[in-house]
Amino acid sequence: MSATQWLTFVPVAPGLEAALADEVESLVPGVKLKRRAGGVEFRVDLPGLMTVARRSRIAESVRVRVARFEARDFRTLEAGLDRVPWDAYVRRGTEPVIRVRARRSKLIHSDAIAERVGRALERRGPGPGGPAPTVHVRLEKDRVQVSIEAADELLHRRGWRGEGGQAPLRENLAAACLALSGWEPVAPLWDPFCGSGTLILEGLARRAPGLLAESQERQIQRWPIFDAETWDGLELERCEPPEGGALLGTDRDGEAVARANGNASRAGVAEAARFEVAPLAQAEQRVPQGAAVVTNTPYGKRLAGGKDLRRAFHDLGRLLAHRTDLGPVVALVGHDRFERDTRLKWNTVVQFPNRGTRVRLVRLNR
Ligand SMILES: C[S@@+](CC[C@H](N)C(=O)[O-])C[C@H]1O[C@@H](n2cnc3c(N)ncnc32)[C@H](O)[C@@H]1O
Repeated sequence: MSATQWLTFVPVAPGLEAALADEVESLVPGVKLKRRAGGVEFRVDLPGLMTVARRSRIAESVRVRVARFEARDFRTLEAGLDRVPWDAYVRRGTEPVIRVRARRSKLIHSDAIAERVGRALERRGPGPGGPAPTVHVRLEKDRVQVSIEAADELLHRRGWRGEGGQAPLRENLAAACLALSGWEPVAPLWDPFCGSGTLILEGLARRAPGLLAESQERQIQRWPIFDAETWDGLELERCEPPEGGALLGTDRDGEAVARANGNASRAGVAEAARFEVAPLAQAEQRVPQGAAVVTNTPYGKRLAGGKDLRRAFHDLGRLLAHRTDLGPVVALVGHDRFERDTRLKWNTVVQFPNRGTRVRLVRLNR
């Protein structure tokens, strides 16, 4: 039994804390969470921490707080840094990335603080070296907080995305939208603005866990106390792929669809996900009976095409009014006129920032 509990913080876009909290609670049953603005905080043992670092699809990163003390001068800072149990997290002889953020404190010079952290690590003596997790030091009103990454800030990268593409949705945001959509993964799923296929591929990961080949290292694997046996036990079993066409993405842009197919191939699911070129006005017959609809509508400066966009929303509204078998239907929207142009009633589920735009996840009210 592992008695040590790690104070863990998992950040997410503000607005998505509840979706993340539900996911962490399902990954670590019985965990007691505190929702913070922009994340959730909880204490968890090493297997639980590994589970969140390895399995969360909504998290942006995972960090543990390993020390907290006050320091108004460098001597006190150095003494505090010498008390951090570094050997558990950072192998001797390695040089981790050190990120410092200091505000409203006597010690404010980030480079000088980072240098003290480097020296504290060196004082431990030589060692085998190798990759190290990122170390974060935060000073706020003279209180120092030292955190170590268990999963890094690029956790949304699943390892299958190719280059290019217009405004792809971050995979962890796609995972949050799917979690909030009410889609039962046994049902078919359709994304009418699929772009590079993010929502459909995340949907596949939800429908058939372990099916996607994903190869991203987590920083916790660099910790000296990392336990490979527990980690290997967290490997997801490959489920049967759903029948072809059950998860369908359509888009009017042939290049976007080619990118989606490339991503599906790299993820090893070229057979299980279907992507087709179809403008909304011609998509209807392709959509499986009873499919849920989860989509990221065009928005933002590059995609806001005036009339063109209004027509797309209008076509979506017409299709949904006609196909009453489809549902639940949720859309990520960045334009106020979405509701008006679709001529349907929608309720806002959550709002959050995405690439500098305030977006809303709305659910069709049938
Ligand atoms: C915000 S992007 C979707 C991004 C996607 N979620 C991803 O992660 O790559 C919107 C997509 O809508 C498509 N689109 C715009 N108008 C359309 C229409 N009338 N019919 C079908 N697709 C359309 C664009 O080609 C673009 O790929």
